[in-house]
Amino acid sequence: TSSKKILVLAGDGIGPEVMREVAKIVNWFRAYRGLDVDIAEELVGGASLEVHGVPIRDEVIQRAHEVDAILFGAVGDPKWAHVDFNLRPEAAILALRKELDLFANLRPAQVFDALADASTLKAEYVSKLDLLIVRETVGGIYFGTPRGIETLPDGSRRGINTELYTTSEIERVARVAFDAARKRQGHVCSVEKSNVMESGLLWREVVTSLQQAEYPDVTLTHMLADNCAMQLVRNPKQFDVIVTGNLFGDLLSDLASMLTGSLGMLPSATLGPLKQDGRRAALYEPIHGSAPDIAGQGIANPIAQILSFAMMLRYSFERDEDARLIETAIENILNTGLRTADIMTLGTARVGTEVMVAAILQEIKRLSGQG
Ligand code: NAD
Ligand code: IPM
Ligand code: MN
Repeated sequence: TSSKKILVLAGDGIGPEVMREVAKIVNWFRAYRGLDVDIAEELVGGASLEVHGVPIRDEVIQRAHEVDAILFGAVGDPKWAHVDFNLRPEAAILALRKELDLFANLRPAQVFDALADASTLKAEYVSKLDLLIVRETVGGIYFGTPRGIETLPDGSRRGINTELYTTSEIERVARVAFDAARKRQGHVCSVEKSNVMESGLLWREVVTSLQQAEYPDVTLTHMLADNCAMQLVRNPKQFDVIVTGNLFGDLLSDLASMLTGSLGMLPSATLGPLKQDGRRAALYEPIHGSAPDIAGQGIANPIAQILSFAMMLRYSFERDEDARLIETAIENILNTGLRTADIMTLGTARVGTEVMVAAILQEIKRLSGQG
């Protein structure tokens, strides 16, 4: 057995069919690059509901606590759209985030040169784009109480959710954004609705104070979330790091993915607080979902999942060189014209998940001269 452990949670829909292929890349790094890790797999989401009657078992949460990193696929299945929220497939990822305190979700949107014409925006607006969305993932309206559906005296009903952020929740995610900016272009744009919401007003105050006290070298701007959505389409290259709450971060990152050519391109890393022993919980997942509309066809884009594994190598295993090896291989393969069906460029070869992963792995081998 190895000293390090990875937990693989493929989930539902395209999750397992993508993970099955990406595992070949993971295993290659174990065989040829000295990535000394034990791997365990568990069911989550609808797949766990089928077998165990719950979207994630306590044992799996416990396992997740113990491992060094989690590679997550996607959860969600229309079959379970009418059950209680705590029994839906999506509850699995929400529980993992909450139970492991995975509060900082890094969602980089980088445009590969070969895909500058794949965005629905004109190439000049997106080419060389490199932005990072830092999304808070254990607070906000996703978890605030009160919540629920109530029946009123007149028999009508109301659905209730509560947007809620504390000073410390805002401060710790802002710190992640400022630290990231220091290694990038040194600019943070903080996004909320402080014109309408108290939680947004507090967000702006806390981020401003933190910047003044500890990050005077980082420039900070503020933007209302509706304007930010527009600015991301009008001129995305004005941004370096965007820091925002749970719900706005969810929306803005799907929007940003399309600047790169496809939702199937965007990876993410979700990090917990640094513990006393120097470790931190970390989960790596594409930002896309289970894509039920294309599941089972073998045509899903595996690049978001592969890049998520690259982020794992970089952030959990200090293997920057290995991460770059993967990124360069993807870049080279895209340069050859190979595309999955979701990437809208003309005159290129269309391949499925398996062929795309095989091509990227082949290129990894060629670049490294190994395997
Ligand atoms: P989705 O991200 O699954 O799909 C949106 C669209 O993008 C679909 O047309 C899909 O085919 C396409 N797409 C997504 N990933 C792709 C890929 N890798 N390659 C090619 N095309 C891809 O979002 P949705 O349809 O709104 O949600 C479906 C289910 O996934 C829901 O149950 C939702 O809750 C869940 N979901 C889960 C996660 C997660 O597990 N972290 C994230 C988002 C959505
Ligand atoms: C994501 C997803 C999740 C979210 C869902 C599946 C709970 O959309 O990871 O972006 O809303 O956070
Ligand atoms: Mn989402």
